[in-house]
Amino acid sequence: MWKPPQRVKYKASPGGSWPSRQEASSAQLFEPLSFQALRLNERTWVPAMVPWRAEDDGAVTADNLDWYGRFARGQPGAIVVEATGIRDIPSGPLLRIGHDRYVPGLEQIVQRVREESKGYSKLFIQLIDFLSIKRRPAAEAYFGRFLKVRPEHAQAVGLDEAADEAKVRAHLMLLGGDELEEVLTTRELESLRYGYRERVTDMELEHIRDLPKQLPELFAAAAVRAKKAGFDGVELHYAHAYTMASFLSRTNTRDDGYGGALKGRQRLALEVMEAVLSAVGRDFVVGVRILADECIDGGSDLSDATAHAVALCGAGLDFLSLSRGGKFDDAKQPKVGEAVYPYTGMSGYECMPGYISDEQGPFGRNVPLAKHIRSALRNDSLLTPVVVAGGIHNFDQAKGVLAEEVGDVVALARQALADPDWFIKVRTGQGDAVNLCEYTNYCEGLDQKHKQVTCQLWDRDFSDGDPSRTSDGKRRLVAPDWRPIHIQK
Ligand SMILES: Cc1cc2nc3c(=O)[nH]c(=O)nc-3n(C[C@H](O)[C@H](O)[C@H](O)COP(=O)(O)O)c2cc1C
Ligand code: SF4
Repeated sequence: MWKPPQRVKYKASPGGSWPSRQEASSAQLFEPLSFQALRLNERTWVPAMVPWRAEDDGAVTADNLDWYGRFARGQPGAIVVEATGIRDIPSGPLLRIGHDRYVPGLEQIVQRVREESKGYSKLFIQLIDFLSIKRRPAAEAYFGRFLKVRPEHAQAVGLDEAADEAKVRAHLMLLGGDELEEVLTTRELESLRYGYRERVTDMELEHIRDLPKQLPELFAAAAVRAKKAGFDGVELHYAHAYTMASFLSRTNTRDDGYGGALKGRQRLALEVMEAVLSAVGRDFVVGVRILADECIDGGSDLSDATAHAVALCGAGLDFLSLSRGGKFDDAKQPKVGEAVYPYTGMSGYECMPGYISDEQGPFGRNVPLAKHIRSALRNDSLLTPVVVAGGIHNFDQAKGVLAEEVGDVVALARQALADPDWFIKVRTGQGDAVNLCEYTNYCEGLDQKHKQVTCQLWDRDFSDGDPSRTSDGKRRLVAPDWRPIHIQK
């Protein structure tokens, strides 16, 4: 993963002091929140985290139930189930909601969270669409099979335009890096060096041209299934490297009314949201996660994000969750046989900042951006709750987000993975028992390798018996249970 060149090391800390039980009972963080269909018992949130626990066909496993059950025992205000695919197409061990057959499994997640949180935590599911991406090919495979040979390729290697395709392929295979740059287009070079990746701007492909026709219906059907399964709501994934974020991005140059200027880029996002809202009704929470900044050259910045936020919230959203970066555009070149991973470049760092950082540090990097976006909403009389994430791990930070009107809900992703009991510990005056995340991104490295995600603070701790383990038997799959020692007055 990319790291800031300054290489300043930071350590998460309790900040000032953890609140006593009494202080926590009057803290804004632990007050309920109500807006439109959204009802939270407190203003804390576990944002979506893919754990690589589903079946290969996208069905819910017992490990998925344990994963969400474990977060629920910590009783956060809300949990967002990982990015879940809205299409009925193979996508590896990631959850899917693209067919009614997924509903019973998802229902089990809902039941488990209700039981384990004693009905305290609300449960949302993140709905995602993504485009096709292939692993980086070996040069032999690329030139031997994948490259679509064009007459220009033949000419470039000194052959006749009508030369035998196999001969052209054999000649291309012999070219060095500089020569290839002359002969191949930018996209062909990218497919060779990073693996083929579709973009929303590939208008020559019918299924890409048709995305605006298909996606509103696909998202709406998925949201209806989420409602049937008993979730409290959905979060539409308009962030990071995926389809909807690509439509919102400044890099979207589509010329069919769904790209170009701001309004064109927002059009599909609004149409999808409207389709979802009308399919599920106003008693079901519909929120959106967007990027406060894409953090890539030529990408959307805070001004775009602010305009998107105003447009989406103005159309009736129940919450707006903010993330940052996480794009393919600046990702590291993968090894042959691996797929490019959108959290390996600078934008990836901004999404999940690690402990090796710059002068600004990894904690609360999204705070100024979120504050700007929220204040633009309020200036427009839009009261939509804003969910803020990014390096938040202690009570003072969380309190500050609310007190300084940065956001309305505080999200802890890696800190909740490091210690799922953060919420109940802090609320009951036992903050000093919190295990602080070290922001090493060990968990994120596992995600990159498509391995079951665990935390290094607890995954080799077998002191409580024989918990369920990863497929290689080396790591436990969920954090050990916490046994409260005392209740601080
Ligand atoms: C293992 C892992 C998986 C993640 N999966 C998702 C995901 O499915 N959807 C999403 O929007 N963000 C995902 N994220 C990003 C987090 O939701 C969050 O925005 C990010 O980690 C920054 O918050 P933090 O500093 O509290 O960890 C993931 C993060 C991690 C560490
Ligand atoms: S592995 Fe654990 S300690 Fe390290 S960043 Fe992930 S959650 Fe934090």
